[in-house]
Amino acid sequence: MRTMVVTGGTSGIGKGIAAHYLRQGAHVIAVGSSEQRGAVLRAEAQRAAWKGKLTVLRVDLSSVAAGRRLVDSLVEAEPILDNLVLCAQRYRLTGGRVETAEGFEHSFALAYLSRYVLSHGLLPALERSPGPVIANVGTPGLRLGRIHWDDLQLTRRYGGTRATLQSFRANDLLGAAFPQVRPDSAVRYVGYHPGVVRTGMPASQPQPLRALSAASLALLGRGVEQAIRPLVALLDDPPEERFTAHRGRRRLSVDRPTFDTTAALRLHRETQALLD
Ligand SMILES: NC(=O)c1ccc[n+]([C@@H]2O[C@H](COP(=O)([O-])OP(=O)(O)OC[C@H]3O[C@@H](n4cnc5c(N)ncnc54)[C@H](OP(=O)(O)O)[C@@H]3O)[C@@H](O)[C@H]2O)c1
Repeated sequence: MRTMVVTGGTSGIGKGIAAHYLRQGAHVIAVGSSEQRGAVLRAEAQRAAWKGKLTVLRVDLSSVAAGRRLVDSLVEAEPILDNLVLCAQRYRLTGGRVETAEGFEHSFALAYLSRYVLSHGLLPALERSPGPVIANVGTPGLRLGRIHWDDLQLTRRYGGTRATLQSFRANDLLGAAFPQVRPDSAVRYVGYHPGVVRTGMPASQPQPLRALSAASLALLGRGVEQAIRPLVALLDDPPEERFTAHRGRRRLSVDRPTFDTTAALRLHRETQALLD
């Protein structure tokens, strides 16, 4: 039985992936921070009688310690993991800077550090799969935002959009570094941009941003079912190359500056130092 971990598996794109593979009979471990979204997914799975096995784990992935505990428990409980799909995200485009209990800027912690901790931490279980794939869902290759090397935690010039875009660019570098720092790994690392998709994202925004983003997603967004199709194809039949980036069905060049290997290795080293 295929076993997969889906962070953000209780809403939007992550939930679409969870449902797709539950229908196919996989064991899906969906991770989210709220009791309520987890309970809704459990109830839907029961109603639909999907043939797979659903495990819902409630973990606040903005905490590095909680992410590490999740890794330890998964590696112990699941000797073989086939896929890790990284979707957990909470945009904080308005309001002031929020710092986690561990001293990290919130977007950096949730959208980037948790993905770093899970991608590297779950490797022992992923390496036992015959075709392991990590899919990092975000906006790979987008020419917006940058890494603020002199102030990664944005303590001096914080902005919600700046922090969100930095977390996206950090994930581009996480993927680009992967084959370099894990040269012997069989894992295929896939960066995936789903396009604009109607998901639960607006629900967690304050007004009037909630109404605005709900209206624009309703107008411009695709449905989850459509948005996950290319991602499913990548998980089922991953590219040969160790790291690839995609926007929907379109494969992106990894020669773009956002995937610069020197920057990727630098961020890898700096992240390791932050986590030590
Ligand atoms: N929707 C789009 O148009 C779009 C476009 C480009 C890229 N993307 C990317 O696609 C990915 C999924 O986005 P989406 O639109 O599907 O989002 P979504 O519907 O808002 O779902 C976000 C998921 O993240 C979980 N989450 C939030 N905070 C968490 C925390 N602290 N700890 C653990 N889990 C947490 C949520 O569960 P809880 O609420 O239970 O915590 C939920 O399951 C994101 O990386 C996003 O950047 C989306």
